[in-house]
Amino acid sequence: MIIAVDGPAASGKGTIARALAAHFGLPWLDTGLLYRAVGVSAVRAGRDPNNAEDALAACDFPEALLDDPELRSEAAGKYASFVSTHPAVREALVHRQRSFAHQPGGAVLDGRDIGTIIAPDADAKLFVTASTEARAERRYRDELKTNAEADLAAILADIEDRDRRDSERASAPLKRAGDADLLDTTNLTISAAVQRAIALVEARTGKR
Ligand code: CDP
Repeated sequence: MIIAVDGPAASGKGTIARALAAHFGLPWLDTGLLYRAVGVSAVRAGRDPNNAEDALAACDFPEALLDDPELRSEAAGKYASFVSTHPAVREALVHRQRSFAHQPGGAVLDGRDIGTIIAPDADAKLFVTASTEARAERRYRDELKTNAEADLAAILADIEDRDRRDSERASAPLKRAGDADLLDTTNLTISAAVQRAIALVEARTGKR
């Protein structure tokens, strides 16, 4: 069983995908981490993530980079959204994501184009969203844990920029697949969102 979870930044898709994987006993791939690794790898090499050739050269990043906590930073998210606009970068990462999705037994993947490009044949697709304000507030509360200077207005502006880049890019833009179930988490607690996600997948697949 393949479960595709897509949606914008801080919508809750990562948390939901992880919980679905645990519930259905499936392996999980956070595909955003791959783009984050490419972005961070380019910047560390002194290259420009906005430049297609520089970004492509960073696609053979070392595996160990995927465990680097810096990948979780806001800066890494921004570099990821730069490198992910280049079709050659997306192409370089497609095979790895499709093989993960189609491994025996299935998998859960979360990202921006899982239900549309990576696994259009997924058994269940969720498009997870939330208002821009709710998403910015979540990131802000997360960041406050490690940075007392966190700035809500700056985070909101950053999320709006990222939404625009992700939705307007020509190659694999963020968009709900026609057969994806919409899950709006604006007014849901994490556990309510997870319960709802499980119910939607069960209804689509008949699996428990
Ligand atoms: O959760 P958040 O959106 O902050 O981060 P992420 O899912 O790790 O994605 C970071 C960036 O990578 C996104 O803004 C997208 O530009 C890009 N991305 C993508 O283009 N396609 C994917 N399947 C996953 C991420």
